[in-house]
Amino acid sequence: MIPKHLLAIESSCDETSAAVVRDDLAVLSNIVLSQDEVHAPFGGVVPELASRQHLKSICPVVRESLAVAGLPLEAMDYFAVTQGPGLVGSLLVGLNFAKGLAYFYKKPVLGIDHVQAHIESAFIDRPDLEFPVLALVVSGGHTSIFVLKKKLKYQVLGRTRDDAAGEALDKIAKFLDLGYPGGPVIQRLAEKGDPLRFPFVLPRMRDRSFDFSFSGLKTAAIRLVRENGITKESAALTDFLASFEYAVVRALIGNLTRAAEELGPKSLVLCGGVARNKRLRAAFEKAAAERGFPASIPSPKLCTDNAAMIGALAWAKIKAVKKELPLSLDLDAYPRSPK
Ligand code: KG4
Ligand code: ZN
Repeated sequence: MIPKHLLAIESSCDETSAAVVRDDLAVLSNIVLSQDEVHAPFGGVVPELASRQHLKSICPVVRESLAVAGLPLEAMDYFAVTQGPGLVGSLLVGLNFAKGLAYFYKKPVLGIDHVQAHIESAFIDRPDLEFPVLALVVSGGHTSIFVLKKKLKYQVLGRTRDDAAGEALDKIAKFLDLGYPGGPVIQRLAEKGDPLRFPFVLPRMRDRSFDFSFSGLKTAAIRLVRENGITKESAALTDFLASFEYAVVRALIGNLTRAAEELGPKSLVLCGGVARNKRLRAAFEKAAAERGFPASIPSPKLCTDNAAMIGALAWAKIKAVKKELPLSLDLDAYPRSPK
């Protein structure tokens, strides 16, 4: 059988990415151009700057992804693109680019959900993961627990009621003027700190739901910074960051293990940008091993936003449909996950 290929594009936030993925899920290229330098002076993503930067980056990023894969655009059987959730201005750049290609080459274009694609990234390295799968998606924009009884069947079990975990890390880093994105900076500094020095009380949902809340932890962190006069030069900084990082990890893993014990899934998945965090990865692996659940975390490059995960989910959808896809160009962006 002649292998088929698709070109996937991701532009939902501040990474412009393009990947060529073969139908056996081999990732032939996965180019990611980060905009960190553009947004760093502002301590967070500036939506209008993000869309303008995508506009500049998308052609070279797509060109490079094809060059690395060693294939021309004509060889693509499908195009796939992130449809949402994300920043609408950013999403529209990728969507319109992919629709233009689909129109010119007369090939189908698939709109892909960004959060579901984060979950699918776990299957790139581990296609054998057994269902039901319980997945914790933790990123700068999302913190949710999903259960998948079977492939492509997503049920939200819990989500954040306010900030996402990555957002809380980024905001505390910004408050202390440590740089952007905050997650990796906090990880680096926290490595040398004592996670037990500063006490954080974890939020508890009255209704025993699996929802998260990080705004209380963020407010408690800011209070501790003020009360203890912590600055980026303080000797206590590393202990403080280790304690905060540890609190975020405990909140995430606490909910996940409670859900796992109640549902008894066959596999556990940790994904999204914050899944690069070493303390979180270690806590997740320990919690899964103690309860005998096979666990999977994508390789760090597949955790943060990338187009390979968009391509992987697109292939899963194409294979599930089992018929010719229409040449419709009717895709529109959506900013938030559908309820
Ligand atoms: O998945 P992602 O690239 O974008 C969204 O969909 O939001 O995640 C970005 C988030 C940022 O909040 C960033 O601070 C966080 O992932 N992050 C980390 C680490 N690397 C990235 N957080 C903690 N530790 C890390 N090593
Ligand atoms: Zn993401």
